[in-house]
Amino acid sequence: MANFSHKNDNFEELWSKQAENLPWFKKWSKTLEWNEPFAHWFVDGQINASYACLDAHLKNVDFKDKTAILWEDERGNELKISYKELHQQVNNFAYFLKQNGVGIGDIVIIYLPIIPQAVAAMLAVARLGATHSVVFSGFSAAALKDRIGDTQAKFLITCDEAFYRNKTIHLKKTADEATLNSPSIEKVFVIKRSDADIEIPLQPCDIVYDLLEHANDQNIVEPTSVESNHPLFILYTSGTTGKPKGIIHSTGGYLTYVYSTIKWAFDIKQDSIYWCTADIGWITGHSYGVYGPLMHGATIFMREGAPELPAQNAWWKAIEKYKISIFYTSPTALRMFMKIGNHIFQNTDLSSLKTLGSVGEPINPEVWLWYNDHIGQQMCPIIDTWWQTETGGFMISPAAGLDLVKLKPGSATFPLPGICAEIVDQNNIPVDNQNKGHLVITKPWPGMTIGIHQNPELFKQAYWSKFKNSYYSGDYAIKDKDGYFWLLGRADEVLNVSGHRIGTAEVESATLEHPAVAETAVVGIKDEIKGEVIIVFTSLKQGIAVTPELKKEIVQTIRKQIGAFATPKDIYFVEQLPKTRSGKIMRRILKAIVQGDQIGDVSTLEDGTSVEEINLIYKNFIQSIQQ
Ligand code: PRX
Repeated sequence: MANFSHKNDNFEELWSKQAENLPWFKKWSKTLEWNEPFAHWFVDGQINASYACLDAHLKNVDFKDKTAILWEDERGNELKISYKELHQQVNNFAYFLKQNGVGIGDIVIIYLPIIPQAVAAMLAVARLGATHSVVFSGFSAAALKDRIGDTQAKFLITCDEAFYRNKTIHLKKTADEATLNSPSIEKVFVIKRSDADIEIPLQPCDIVYDLLEHANDQNIVEPTSVESNHPLFILYTSGTTGKPKGIIHSTGGYLTYVYSTIKWAFDIKQDSIYWCTADIGWITGHSYGVYGPLMHGATIFMREGAPELPAQNAWWKAIEKYKISIFYTSPTALRMFMKIGNHIFQNTDLSSLKTLGSVGEPINPEVWLWYNDHIGQQMCPIIDTWWQTETGGFMISPAAGLDLVKLKPGSATFPLPGICAEIVDQNNIPVDNQNKGHLVITKPWPGMTIGIHQNPELFKQAYWSKFKNSYYSGDYAIKDKDGYFWLLGRADEVLNVSGHRIGTAEVESATLEHPAVAETAVVGIKDEIKGEVIIVFTSLKQGIAVTPELKKEIVQTIRKQIGAFATPKDIYFVEQLPKTRSGKIMRRILKAIVQGDQIGDVSTLEDGTSVEEINLIYKNFIQSIQQ
């Protein structure tokens, strides 16, 4: 039984060896320059991400017809794109972007659904040495505008329409709303994908890229060689404070990390047919939906639309049809299918599957067992991967491509090679096995973010100040008696709804956008399917009455500010929020109330406020609640 949580004293050597697997234009002169908390991996190394994913394979003539992307949507449309074709599409799009002024150092926002052109757009931006910032297409205009504002991007790539759950989503209209008051935006590139004869209402800054028109272009753009630490992308993620943070990832370090970890954890090979169900708008879609599998020359499958359309067994039929060998999804999706019942994959051949992955939230043992029994048919290892937007790639995970340890349902097992993870108490002292503590990482790794866009200080403060010389993950974890890691969820004010990270502060400020709201507090409570759901407590401005319409309006305000996935499960109206003497909102009380728990131990957690006072606040508060 292998346990990789060894001392990792030679971690630099390990990563240097791994980096040799990538097609660098120029080798690095130094493996790591470490100025805590800023890491510079593979100093002076020169590389290009689009070259590593495409050109490097095409040197092998046999590779040309190899399928890069298989795509389908809920309406039954299909596409099959070879590596050669994808290379051509990327070059054509890069050529178009270049003609329109995109170049090294530019930030390009990508606001696209799950379509092959989204992959082509990412790779085209990377080919030019520009930096992409993908915004999940489920985000609202306000959320998109915030991200444009923070990046100060000059360019945005979007498309005319997206399709989801039998509906046409006019993505361009949302983009228009966002760019209307975004002075940094100079050009909006609109991919025309729709065969419907619609007129895209054009703004002065719009430039249309008609896919049909460019289908036979033969442009070639040489990949721009960039230094290893050149930012490949910025991805926004929620934290405990204020607005989402722009997490920056490097090129050389990030690619090395993703290349290695996908091989170790999933045993990916060139002949793998790989499906990561995450949207490209999240880190999972970046690292393990696009860059990881393409660097290995595997075939990726993408699916646009709802999992239950056109029929409840659509996902499993796709596995059968495309002979998916590696399947990577979230516990929320699995719980949803578990609830539907096992009849939906009867008469479906899932025997192509070799490896099953899970990500985004703790996987409960019963879900793990169901996944193992019914999807894997007890033939596939379940690879529960713990990691974060900031880590760039898997940190704690079983390793199907190395020496697979005995798996335990619900445990992510051990840190991967080169990763030094510890569980510590408040004083940064490692806790004994079977004791809960904070998960920290004590050595840098090549996938680690190189910082927060426009805010290096915040990177120090949010991740490297709570525990000396360690990266603070914000997660609780525990090691069992055998040293296996079990992830226990967030230790901070960050919610995890269906595997999506949402800051309570973000939902609170969205709620406050409604003019009737005086004060608000948001908590997450456990949910059988989504892991966690959002509950909003709100006090209204004087003289405003609670009505069902008002409740709907507040929900709409939140959806408008963030996106539909942040829709609260419920809103409670209260006269006043329960607060400690020092004015801190007592979230424990709020959580206890909605979950029907005792408030018993709340007193120990609140500053200076007596048990009697808390009980009184609780009693008054309960009486004032209206739904
Ligand atoms: O709380 C952990 C949870 O998701 C957080 C990271 O969210 P995000 O940056 O959006 O990235 C999600 C995809 C990597 C973590 O702090 N999380 C992620 N994977 C797991 C997990 N919790 C338990 N088990 C996991 N496998």
